[in-house]
Amino acid sequence: MTAYEEIFRSSVDDREGFWLGAAGEIDWHVAPTRALDESNPPFYRWFPDGELNVAYNALDRHVDAGHGDRTALVYDSPVTGTKRSYTYAQLRDEVALFAGVLREQGVGHGDRVVIYMPMVPEAAVAMLACARLGAIHSVVFGGFAAKELAVRIDDAGPKVVVSASCGIEGTRVIEYKPLLDKAIELSERKPDSTVILQREQATAAMGERDVDWAEAVGRATPANPVPVKATDPLYVLYTSGTTGKPKGVVRDSGGYAVALAWSMPHIYAVGPGETIFTASDVGWVVGHSYIVYAPLLAGATSVLYEGKPVGTPDAGQFWRVVQENAVKSVFTAPTAFRAIKKEDPKGEFLAQYDVSSLEYLFLAGERLDPETHRWASDLLGIPVIDHWWQTETGWPIAANPAGIELLEIKPGSPTRAMPGWDVQVLDETGKPAEPGVDGAIVAKLPLPPGAFPTLWNDDERYVGSYMSAFDGYYLTGDGGHLDEDGYVFVMGRTDDVINVAGHRLSTGGMEEVLASHPDVAECAVIGVADTMKGQIPRGFVVLKSGVDADAEGYEDGLRAELVQMVRDQIGAVASLKDVAVVPALPKTRSGKILRKTMRGIADGAEEPVPSTIDDATVLDTLRPVLRRQ
Ligand code: COA
Ligand code: AMP
Repeated sequence: MTAYEEIFRSSVDDREGFWLGAAGEIDWHVAPTRALDESNPPFYRWFPDGELNVAYNALDRHVDAGHGDRTALVYDSPVTGTKRSYTYAQLRDEVALFAGVLREQGVGHGDRVVIYMPMVPEAAVAMLACARLGAIHSVVFGGFAAKELAVRIDDAGPKVVVSASCGIEGTRVIEYKPLLDKAIELSERKPDSTVILQREQATAAMGERDVDWAEAVGRATPANPVPVKATDPLYVLYTSGTTGKPKGVVRDSGGYAVALAWSMPHIYAVGPGETIFTASDVGWVVGHSYIVYAPLLAGATSVLYEGKPVGTPDAGQFWRVVQENAVKSVFTAPTAFRAIKKEDPKGEFLAQYDVSSLEYLFLAGERLDPETHRWASDLLGIPVIDHWWQTETGWPIAANPAGIELLEIKPGSPTRAMPGWDVQVLDETGKPAEPGVDGAIVAKLPLPPGAFPTLWNDDERYVGSYMSAFDGYYLTGDGGHLDEDGYVFVMGRTDDVINVAGHRLSTGGMEEVLASHPDVAECAVIGVADTMKGQIPRGFVVLKSGVDADAEGYEDGLRAELVQMVRDQIGAVASLKDVAVVPALPKTRSGKILRKTMRGIADGAEEPVPSTIDDATVLDTLRPVLRRQ
C-alpha cells in the first residue's frame, strides 16, 4: 500500500482513531472524547462533546505560541493600487475589536450576521469576528443582485448585515449600498443594523440603520473568544440548487476545523510560515475554506487578492503575487487559467517574474479540461492538481494529496478520494457501476468531518435533495465514473445546476425569472459548453398566444428585457446573454422538457431522439437554433 492508501484505509477502517488523531491539531476548550455520533442518521454529528472557538484556533493560539509576528494575511489589490499585510497579532486585534462592534450591535452566540462585501480584508475580519462571538456568518457573493441578497437575508434572519460602500469590478466601481438598501426593502426580516465600510472609491449615503465601520471600531472594546459546541454552526453559505430558492449549507465548527487543519499540510502542502494564494472570492466556499479558515488554522500566510486574473491590468498579476509573497501553492478555478491562456498563450508575462517558490497549482470549481491542464503544466513545469469538491463538502472529496505523496496525474481526473470519502458510482438501480461506466457519483454515509450536517432550518430538504436517492449514500449531484485504479472522473452535473466561470448557478432560478415576463408562456434554460467560462446559460422562450411577435423590433426588445431581468434579479454573474424565441419546446409525453437532449445538441453531440418524446418535429425545428453558437 502507498502512504496515501494507508492513510485512506485508516480513515475508513478506524474512523474514531483517525479523526480523533486529526483533532489533536486543534486547541479545544473541551477536548472531544469521541469522534462521531451516529445515533440519528443521516444527521451525523462530529466531535459531539467537544467545545472550541474557531477564531481562537485561527488567530490567538498562534500569537500565544509566540508567532504573533508571522504574516497571517496579505491584501493585494491591483484595482485600488493597495497592498497591506497583517501579522497574526494584528489580525487578532482587528478581529477582537470588530467582534466588539458586533457585540455592541447585540450579536451573540447563535445569532446570524450576513456579510455582503467585496474582496477586502475587512470581509475576513467580519467572518472571524462572528466566529469569535459564536455567531453564524452568512457571506453573500458581491456579484449577486439585491433580490438574491434579500432571499438570503430572509432565510438567515440576520441581526446585523455587514457591507461596504462599493466593490471594484475590473475598472468599474460597483456601489453596494444601494443594492443592500434595496435588498432590505425587499426582505421581510429586516436586520436591526447594518455596518458599512466606507471605501474611498465611492462613499455611501448613511441612513438611520447604518453604522460606520471605522467609527464603530474606534469606540469598540475587544471581545474575547466564546467557546461553542463543536456541532454549533460556524456559518451558513447559500448555494444554487435546482430551484430559485438557494440551499443554506450549514457548516459546523469542530468537524470543519479538524478537516481543514488536516487538509492544509496533507493536500495543499502548506504549513506554518508558508504562503497559499487562493484566487477566488470570500463569497464562495473556496474562499471560506482556503482564503480564510484553513490557512489561518494552519498558521500559514494567505493572500487575499482583489482583482481578476486578466485585465487588472494584465495577465501577469498572479505571477507578480507569487513572486512578491514567495507563494508555495496557488489555488484557483480552471476558467482563470483559460483567461490567462487567452491573453498570454506563450507565457510572456510569466517570464517577467521569479516564480521559483511555486510548487503546486491547484484547480477546482468546475471540470478541468485536459487541454488547459496540459497548457498550465507545460507553462509552469510543476504539478497541476485538479481536485473536486462542493459547497456542501467544505473541502476536497477527491484530490492528489501533494503533502503526503504525489500520485500519478491523469488529466481529466481529480485523482482519488480523500480520507473519509467513500466515493462510489451507482447506476439508476443503485448497483455499483463497472469501472469506466458513468453513473451517479455518491459517497457512502457517514460523510467525513467538514461536510454539511444539514441545511439551514431545513432538515427535510437535506434529506430530500441529498440523502434519499440511494439509501445510505450522499448524492453529490455530479455524474461520472471511477477507473480501475480508483481514480474519479467527474463529467458534469446531473441536475439543473451549471458552472459559469467557476460560479455555481441554477438554471431553474433563471427559468423562474424568464417565466415571470408577461409575454412568456414557458421557457427552458440550459448550460452549454463555452471555451472560456466552461459553461454559459442559454435561454429559450415560447410566447403566449396573442403576443404579436412579428411587430417590428419586438423580438430584439424582448430579448434585451429578459437579459436585463436576469441581471437585475440574479446578478451579472449569471451571464445570460443569449435568449431565443422558439415556437415550442421539446417534451416527453408526460410533459417534461427534454433539457438534457437540448444541451447535448447545443454541445454538438449526435443526440438520439428520446423514445419518450411527445412530438419529434418540435425537436427537429429546434435543432438548428440549438446548434447555432
Ligand atoms: N461584483 C459585481 N459584479 C461581478 C462580480 C462581483 N463580485 N463578479 C463578477 N461580476 C460581474 C462581472 O463584472 C461581469 O459583468 P459584465 O457582464 O457586466 O461584464 C459578470 O458579473 C460576469 O462575471 P465573470 O463571469 O466573472 O466574467 P468576467 O468576464 O468578468 O471574468 C474571468 C472572467 C474568467 C476572469 C472570471 O470569471 C474569473 O476570474 N473567474 C474565476 C472565478 C472563481 O475564482 N471562482 C471561484 C471558484 S474557485
Ligand atoms: P460549488 O458548490 O460552487 O463549489 O460547485 C460544486 C460543483 O462544481 C460540483 O458539484 C461540480 O459539478 C463542479 N466541480 C467542482 N470541482 C470540480 C472538478 N475538479 N471537476 C469537475 N467538476 C467540478
